[in-house]
Amino acid sequence: MPSPVTIVILAAGLGTRMKSRKAKVLHRAGGKTLIEHVVETALKLTSADRIAVVVGHQAEDVRMAVKHPGIRFVEQKEQKGTGHAVMVCREALGTQDGYLTILYGDSPLLLPETLQRLIDRQRSAASSAEAAGTLMSAIMGDPTGYGRVIRDSSDHVAEIVEQKAANPQQLAIREANMGIYCFRADLFWKYVDQIGPDNPAHEYYLTDMVAILDRAGFYVEAMQIANPDEALGINDRVDLAHVDRILRHRKTRELMLGGVTIERPETVSIDGDVRIGMDTVVEPFARILGRTSIGENCRVGAGAIVQDSEIADEAEIFPYTIVNRSKIERGAQLGPFARLRFDNHVAEGAHIGNFVELKKTQMGAGAKANHLAYLGDAKIGAKTNIGAGTITCNYDGFNKHPTVIGAGAFVGSNSSLIAPVEIGDGAIVGAGSVITEPVPADSLAISRPPQVVKPEWARKRRALARK
Ligand code: UD1
Ligand code: MG
Repeated sequence: MPSPVTIVILAAGLGTRMKSRKAKVLHRAGGKTLIEHVVETALKLTSADRIAVVVGHQAEDVRMAVKHPGIRFVEQKEQKGTGHAVMVCREALGTQDGYLTILYGDSPLLLPETLQRLIDRQRSAASSAEAAGTLMSAIMGDPTGYGRVIRDSSDHVAEIVEQKAANPQQLAIREANMGIYCFRADLFWKYVDQIGPDNPAHEYYLTDMVAILDRAGFYVEAMQIANPDEALGINDRVDLAHVDRILRHRKTRELMLGGVTIERPETVSIDGDVRIGMDTVVEPFARILGRTSIGENCRVGAGAIVQDSEIADEAEIFPYTIVNRSKIERGAQLGPFARLRFDNHVAEGAHIGNFVELKKTQMGAGAKANHLAYLGDAKIGAKTNIGAGTITCNYDGFNKHPTVIGAGAFVGSNSSLIAPVEIGDGAIVGAGSVITEPVPADSLAISRPPQVVKPEWARKRRALARK
């Protein structure tokens, strides 16, 4: 049995450089909070009961964002630095066996396989009794803000010097500390109390552990990763946008390699959990968000926004259509410029056209509402045609009421259907009607005033005006 791995994730800081009222790890990139990304990576490496998240600022919200059973939370009441944040976990963790891996909640790009490599590296080094830990480093074009890795003559890491404490010579070093560590747990807990606030910021720096272990006769190694992007830490909103772009790029690449055509992929935003089937085409500036799944051979038009929805094969979502929390069956067509607010079900082959709004509405198979309509709290049967300008008047100012329309019915343009109301199968509603009473199956209902024609009236009126 390989020695167990315990993972501590630091997420207590406010993140002053974000200039936000919200804790840094609650900001979102790639459609998820930063802390969710890091926790997901941790869960791929060890079991939930061996993961602890250190919380402080907005602790309750961070707990809610993680919401994974088994993960422990440790409160760091005062944020005295990254070293202090780990110290406060000692009792909660209980065990001091195996390896202690520490991750920062503000580094969401780390891939599980890279973290696994770090842990494996430490495991294999541990045949030497002096190998106390391995940290991740990278050569950066611009390492500003990162701790610098100071190596000794045997290439071990002698110390990490923080930006604020570094001298010009140290600042010129481009090998940066990525803030991802794997320590031998017994040694870490034995020496951690030696970290002190003796630095310009008066913080307990976790990075001081390296020099402490070095002085105690052990050594820490640095595993250099080729692509520093993977360990980028978010400190301000410029970093946030950069990391979001990388996460989006990863996602579109994965989808394209899986058979999805994405036009101008740099313009689309697709969240991490979205699934899309083969031969579907995604046009520029589309946003596909949350827990959406899209079938094969579909189209998501330019500028469309699809969130938390299920779209079956062959469905087409034309440009600038917004679909939220809805289920769309095979071959249905939506938009352009349609809005499906929430809890809608559009059955096979149904059409929802331009400037049509749906809320809590079921559209039967092959039914059509092609232009300018509001259908709310409605149930519409198969093959029914809803004319342009039809409005379900579902709200009386106090309560919402349902409209039920059967199959094969025809609702003429510009009709107001005052809910609650029922229209039977095969019924016809004359254009411009205001329907307040039930319409039986196969009947015609028409409620507009009869047309009056006054011959010559217009001409006479004009003549009168000229006098
Ligand atoms: C840290 C490292 C630096 C490294 C960089 C990589 C230290 C002292 N420095 O600097 O060497 O190059 O990360 O991104 O570790 N946190 C707490 N409690 C605290 C302080 C911080 O939980 O008391 C958490 C923060 O919420 C954050 C993480 O620790 O998620 C890192 O803190 P941050 O202030 O961003 O450290 P950096 O200055 O980036
Ligand atoms: Mg940071």
